[in-house]
Amino acid sequence: MTGARIGVYGLGTMGRALALNIAEHGIDVAVSNREPEWITPFMAGAGDLAARLHPAEALDAFVASLERPRVILFMIPSGEAMDEMLGAVTPLLAPGDTVIDGGNADFHDTRRRAADLAARDLHFVGLGVSGGEAGARHGPSLMVGGSDHSWQQLCAILTAIAARHEGVPCVAHLGSDGAGHFVKTVHNGIEYADMQIIAEIYGLLRKGAALPPAEVGALFARWNAGPLQSYLVEITAELLGYLDSETGQPMIDVIADAAGQKGTGRWTVVEALRLGQSASMIEAAVGARAWSSEKPARQAGEARLGGALGALDLPDDALAKAFLAARLLAHAQGFRVLASASIAYGWQLDLAAIARIWRAGCIIRSALLDEIADAFDEGPPEGQLILAPGPAQTLARTVPALREVVGAAIRGGHPVPALSAGLAWYDTMRRAQGSANLIQAQRDMFGRHGFARVGRSGVHHGPWWG
Ligand code: 6PG
Repeated sequence: MTGARIGVYGLGTMGRALALNIAEHGIDVAVSNREPEWITPFMAGAGDLAARLHPAEALDAFVASLERPRVILFMIPSGEAMDEMLGAVTPLLAPGDTVIDGGNADFHDTRRRAADLAARDLHFVGLGVSGGEAGARHGPSLMVGGSDHSWQQLCAILTAIAARHEGVPCVAHLGSDGAGHFVKTVHNGIEYADMQIIAEIYGLLRKGAALPPAEVGALFARWNAGPLQSYLVEITAELLGYLDSETGQPMIDVIADAAGQKGTGRWTVVEALRLGQSASMIEAAVGARAWSSEKPARQAGEARLGGALGALDLPDDALAKAFLAARLLAHAQGFRVLASASIAYGWQLDLAAIARIWRAGCIIRSALLDEIADAFDEGPPEGQLILAPGPAQTLARTVPALREVVGAAIRGGHPVPALSAGLAWYDTMRRAQGSANLIQAQRDMFGRHGFARVGRSGVHHGPWWG
């Protein structure tokens, strides 16, 4: 061997899976890890693929074993660990080498690191990797941000290992510096919203219609054969069928209702607000996870504020349509954030391409993404997905059911923060005349902020200022 074509540093779950995926495609991979004792068991478990894997304990030996210009994929915790690693590895690199961060990093950090490395003729790629361990091992969806030079180095390797949808690899070079990590962040924001929508519908069926988990699972399985087909619906249908071996109860009933989060959903909401947007369904999902973790407060709330939950008798078809409407609205909000960021950071994101690389491999893969990709190919009016002909027709057909479901849930006291946020946004966006004129009048009256007057240019004040 003259040198490995790529190095993978970090042999945690995702790093191991990616290294094996690359090796399986006949590509020589150098591997290393901060704790060298992880390397031997990894090699021992690699089977025939070990022939393509080239372990090195020391960082300098690892770097020296790579073909030049080098490509090194770091699969290590984001944040300080990545900065420390860059401090250690960059003195060992030469102009033209590319360092990749394959973790869920804050895209602001990625932009800063790309600029720092560029000043030394080095390249930094923020790589969004979606699909969990199975995706990384057998075909992830890959979102690449970085220079054209790095893309030339990486294109063949990433194309080989990516998931495929109808034969087309789910990988794209999306833009410079932080583009890949930003798109991955918004992917996760949509993931949060979609999971919350599913959890709300599950809650309505469990608490409102008193269905046992397995029956809810069977309904999700039926939905997964139609327009609601998606990975998250598929796993939900499956997991609802499991029993706890200790108690014999449905497994879902012995899991505490306090959801964790590592931060990417929150980043999406924060960035949306910074960009002057509001991804209200994603915010609802992030907030619902936070509220879910306030168990003692909710226990006290049930004792002091609770009351009977209204029984619900919603037809399956209405729930399915409400689900589809909400899923589409959540994607529309996420893509709107992507479009704003693309302008703010000069990335020229191809929104149709993003929808297409999310069609396989990633957590939010779903049938709906075909319709979304087609809509962005045509260019939706005002850049708004909900105004494109296909999605607008889907919404016209499904929003009445969303209204029925949200109305019934609210009357019955069932919390549906994401479903109701979606409906409120849709209703806001289908009215040319809103009520913000009153807000402008108030701002002017208490603070002389001025307002735009209908049909005239310039800044005006009300008669309250004489
Ligand atoms: C993926 C996932 C993956 C993971 C995140 C979100 O695309 O493979 O999004 O990145 O699920 O870590 O996790 P949290 O729910 O813990 O924020």
